[in-house]
Order: sequence, then C-alpha cells, then structure tokens
Amino acid sequence: MKNKKLFYVIFLSSTVLWFAASTAASEPSAATVRIKAGAYEPFTDSNGNVWQPDQGFEGGATIERNPELEIDGTKDPELFLSEHYAMDSFSCKIPNGKYIAKLYFAETFEGINGPGERVFSYNVQGHEFKDFDIWAKAGGPERAYIETVPVEVNNGEFRIVFTSQIENPAINAIEIIPKTAAETSKPSAATVRIKAGAYEPFTDSNGNVWQPDQGFEGGATIDRDPELDIAGTKDPELFLSEHYAMDSFSCKIPNGKYIVKLYFAETFEGIYGPGERVFSFNVQGHEFKDFDIWAKAGGPERAYIETVPVEVTNGEFRIVFTTQIENPEINAIEIIPQTATDKSADVSEPAAGQNMPTLKDVFKDYFLIGGALNRGVVTGRDPNAAAIAEKQFSTATAENDMKWQLIHPQLNRYNWEPADSFMEFCEKNNMFPIGHCLVWHGQTPRWVFRDDSGNTLTRDALLARMKDHIMTVVGRYKGRIKGWDVVNEALAEDGKLGSRSQWLRIIGEGSEDKQYDFIENAFRWAHEADPDAELYYNDYNLESSKAKCNGAVAIVKHLKSKGIRIDGVGIQLHSGLSYPSIEGLEYAITSLADTGVKVMITELDIRTRTRGYRGADISRINRESTSDSNAENEQTQQRLAEKYAELFSVFVKHKKDISRVTFWGVYDATSWIGGSPLLFDRNCQPKQAFDAVIKVVQDDN
Ligand code: XIL
Repeated sequence: MKNKKLFYVIFLSSTVLWFAASTAASEPSAATVRIKAGAYEPFTDSNGNVWQPDQGFEGGATIERNPELEIDGTKDPELFLSEHYAMDSFSCKIPNGKYIAKLYFAETFEGINGPGERVFSYNVQGHEFKDFDIWAKAGGPERAYIETVPVEVNNGEFRIVFTSQIENPAINAIEIIPKTAAETSKPSAATVRIKAGAYEPFTDSNGNVWQPDQGFEGGATIDRDPELDIAGTKDPELFLSEHYAMDSFSCKIPNGKYIVKLYFAETFEGIYGPGERVFSFNVQGHEFKDFDIWAKAGGPERAYIETVPVEVTNGEFRIVFTTQIENPEINAIEIIPQTATDKSADVSEPAAGQNMPTLKDVFKDYFLIGGALNRGVVTGRDPNAAAIAEKQFSTATAENDMKWQLIHPQLNRYNWEPADSFMEFCEKNNMFPIGHCLVWHGQTPRWVFRDDSGNTLTRDALLARMKDHIMTVVGRYKGRIKGWDVVNEALAEDGKLGSRSQWLRIIGEGSEDKQYDFIENAFRWAHEADPDAELYYNDYNLESSKAKCNGAVAIVKHLKSKGIRIDGVGIQLHSGLSYPSIEGLEYAITSLADTGVKVMITELDIRTRTRGYRGADISRINRESTSDSNAENEQTQQRLAEKYAELFSVFVKHKKDISRVTFWGVYDATSWIGGSPLLFDRNCQPKQAFDAVIKVVQDDN
C-alpha cells in the first residue's frame, strides 16, 4: 500500500453493518443516502445533513487525513478528510427509480505530486468515467471536486465499480439523491416557453418545446427570412419570428419564484444602428428603461438574452412594454420555476455567458483563438467545458492525447480513440485542429530510445522509429489535422539545442554537424506524410530569453536554408501576473516574424501563484507549484485581468504577424498549473479577465 502517513488508520472492509439502520432501503419511497468514506462516526455537514460512516465498499482500506488540512472549494472540508481507497466497488440497496449521484473527491495523499499520478476508472450504474484523475479534475491537490451523475436503479441496487489505472482509486464521500423527491418538492409549475410570432410549436436544440405566439395584448407578429444567420445562439430559429408593437404580455402561473429569460435579436432591415429602436419594459416590477437590442447584442442579427429573477404573488406573470423610439419587439419568453428545495439535485448546466460576445467572433478579423482540449471536453464527460469550447473557440489543440506516450504507448500499439474523439469534436464544431506534438523529450516513453534488450538505440534505429511514428500518426489524420507541432521544446535557455533531449543526444551523436538532423528529418517526414499540413516549431520562454528566441530563429533559418517546409513558430507563453515584459514579447514576435513564418501564441495561461517555480518545464510542475490559496481573491483576479489585457494589446498590435492564440485549457479547473490562470472560472463562468480581453478589441475599433 502506498498510502502511508502520520494520521492514518487502516482496516480492510468487508461486511456491511450500518446499512439496514441508516438508509431507507426497505421503505417504498427512497431517502437520500449519504456516506462519508473512511469515517467511523456519522458526520453532520454545514447544511445539517447527516452522513453515515464508511460502509458498502468491497475491498480496499480507509485512511484519515490530518484534521488541520485545508480543502479548497467546499464549505465542508471535513467531508474530504477521510477516504476509502483501493476498493473494487461500492454498492447499496435502494428502491428502483431515478437518482442524482454525487461523488466527492479531493487529492490529499502526499505521495501524489501532479496530474497523471493517480488515474483510475469507475462505472456508476453504467456511466463510465475512464481515466479519472482527481488532481486534474480539481485543479490541484487538497481541492474538492464533485462528480454529479444522473442514474437510474432498476434492480434494487446502486453500484459503482472502480478500476485502478495508475495508482489506487480513492473517494471521500457518496451521496445518492432520489430525483422524484427533488422534483415533487418543486412548485407544481412547469416551465413556460413561448416563441413570439410563431404559428407552430418549436423544438429547440436541447429538446425543449416552445409554444406558439400567445399571451400578448396588441401589436402584430412577423416571420423573418429562415435563411438569416443569428450569431451567439445554438437556436437561430428561435429568433426568426417576433411579436412587435405590443402593449403587454401576460400568463397565469402559480405563485412562486421564477427565472425569466427574454430573447431578443434585431432582425428588421429598417434598423441600421444603435439608438434606432429603443423601448422600455417592466417585468413584474423590474424596470428596463431605454432598452436597445442593437446596443445590447452588439449589432444586428445577434442573440441577446435578458435574465430576470422575479416573484409571482397574484397568480399572474406580466410584462408591460412602452415605446420610446420605434416599436418594442421580442422573440421569445421563458419562465422557469425556481426550486426552493434541494439545490444539490440541480444538474442544469451553468449558462456559460449566454448573452456575451464570444472570443471567436470578436477576434474573427484578427487571428484564430482557441484552447487546449483534454479528453473530458472532447468525449462529452465535461459538457460545460465543451459548451465553452464550442461557443468561444475557432481552433483547438489536443492537450495530451496526441503525445507519443498516449497515442503510441507501446512499440506495436497505437491508441487512436481519444485522438479520434478530439478530431471529431473539432470537425463538428468547425475548429482549426492542431496536432501536438510529434517529437519531444517530454511525455515520450522510455522504450522509444531503447532496443529490446534495453540498450540505447543507434542513430539509424532511432531515426527509423521516428519516421515510422510520424508517418503513422500524421498519415492517419492526413487532410484533417491542419497544423502539427512537429518539434516541441528542443532548445535550452541559452539558445543552444537542449542536451537533455535523447533525440539530440542519439541522433546528433554529439556532433555540431548533426545537431539539427532530428529536427530536419521530423519536418521532412511530417511533410511527406501530409503535404498540406502546416508545420510548426513550438517552445516556451521565447519571450523571456532573447538567446532562446534567437535559437528558434536559427532553427527556422536552418530549415529554410535546406528547403524544408516550416510554417510557423509557437510561442507557448506560459505567463505570470508580472511577466513576461512587453519588450521581450515584442522582440520574440518581431524577430520570429522577420524570418517569414507565422507566429502563434500556443499555450497561453497566466499563473496566479506568485511564489515558487514559474517555468513551463512539465517535470517541475507538482503539488507545490500548483497550490495557490490566493488564486480566487479579488486582487488576484484584477491583476489577472490587467495582465491579460496587456498581453492581448500586444497581440492586437501585431495581428498581421500572429495567426493564432490558444489558451492552455478551457476553464480554471482544467488547467495544468492550478490556481486561476484562464478566462473562465471553476464554474465555467467568464471572469473579469474575459471582459478585459474582449475590451481590448472593442477599444481597438
Ligand atoms: C501539459 C499538459 O497540460 C498536462 O496535462 C500534462 O500532464 C503535462 O503536459 N508545454 C507543452 C504541453 O508543450 O504539452 C504541456 O502540457 C505544458 C508545457
């Protein structure tokens, strides 16, 4: 067992003692089951809910952590301070029906120092979570991560099966909430959805049905050209009919609290700019004065959704409209009852900023903008992240799944599935897909450099192996991956080729004359495998070390002098709140662009932690370097926004040389460096930094 430390108690669990007493297994209507793994005593959380001690596990052992340990991201750190690990399964008897299962995790073991060190799979009632990595999910150690899974039980038993991949599975708590209970306690009201101006019911992309036009007093309806494109919505059709010039809208609904969403887009050809259609409206006492769709949406044919929390006390919901300049108009109305109870059962997607401008739209005329996508994003396991990516990004890079270690784990075995999912996700969403990366010393298995007997390969054998890998991987995605990071991180800080790379050591044979050979060949073979793909050299610190940047310039010149194709250089740009300097960044952009290649910002993030290691060397990213207790505070977020604004002003200034800007991750919880380094927070909501980035473009126009 690897889990060893001062505060620990181990026993091997087998029998289930508490269950009959603690859950409603024999009752017809199910109660919520709450188990604190590894606990000896029941535990009462901050909401007053009682969690039963450890039970229901088969196999494994339990452990208690230091009670002083702080766990981020939870009101109940204690829930995460005991765990069951190395188990085969968890099960309990519960009545058949629908449930929301919540699985509570935090990485608290000192032996785990980074993502990828504890990876396991589990299956919750048929829902498979493959290669689950607590560190990666929570964004670091000692951080709460809760996986929410809607499940159905039909044989009287709820079951989770765990499988180790790298290190043991571990879990801190399990909560199984009957869905019916949560639903019956909602107000009996159903959501009201009206598509103004429509004659027929309309089903949107989420499968929700909108009723035809009704409830309006006065005015008229109109249908727009069904070919019209509406930006900023998955459901353009919702905005292609409208009710206009009305006095009011009303409908009878049960008293209670609601979230009201009002859908607008300016689609009338008679309106040419902001200020031409201005009206006021009042939603259950909330006044919206001088409302201007064009101004709100940022232009015509763009979706804008106004969200208003309201209370209904007289059985009727009402909106009153008043014309100021031109007629009021609206496209759709949605009235969603608010459940007063059991918020924990609410699994609805956070609205990832439905009304705001998107990055890919605002940077359309500047450069491609995107992010590194991990497996969860492209396989649908992280739908909130996928929603951000779909909406915001025009390009994407596979964060890990095309690296040698993952795509070609053994000599005669390729693992295509995750990379294929990435490919499909990009194609489905019209993103310019980047393959990362073909030749790198990092995340490359040791066997690559050794023969069957474990001896270092000869130069020729390694070149043959490299060729085979490149031809196979690039060949498979020929015509689909549009740009490849052919060689990654070959340079040392002094601008010479980095001697720790086995590629250089073996193929270069310590000779000045052969030092570029591995790079030359990698680019040649990549080009041979897909003559249409763009080919890049990618590295970090090009903006902070002029020597290193000059080294990249030398690589480009060398390849060009030999007539070998190279299209671009990626400046990774892993940044911090106080670096890089504008001067260093501009030096890198301009000196690389002067060689005639495209310049790309390929792995942008801004480390919020201000102490400790700050580089991008993956072997030095660990627990220490990723924990950051100040990440979310106001001052940090403010500084983050300022640094992003500064960096983007440089990109915008050099837009003629920059073809792409890619963030290394989608939202904070998916970042490899922990803290709060991206534009979307752990709830997938846009941060101040997002607004700051958008503003840079608005100010540029
Ligand atoms: C990182 C990934 O984000 C992590 O998930 C992984 O554990 C380590 O690698 N430079 C690169 C990227 O070129 O491939 C690295 O990605 C970050 C540094």
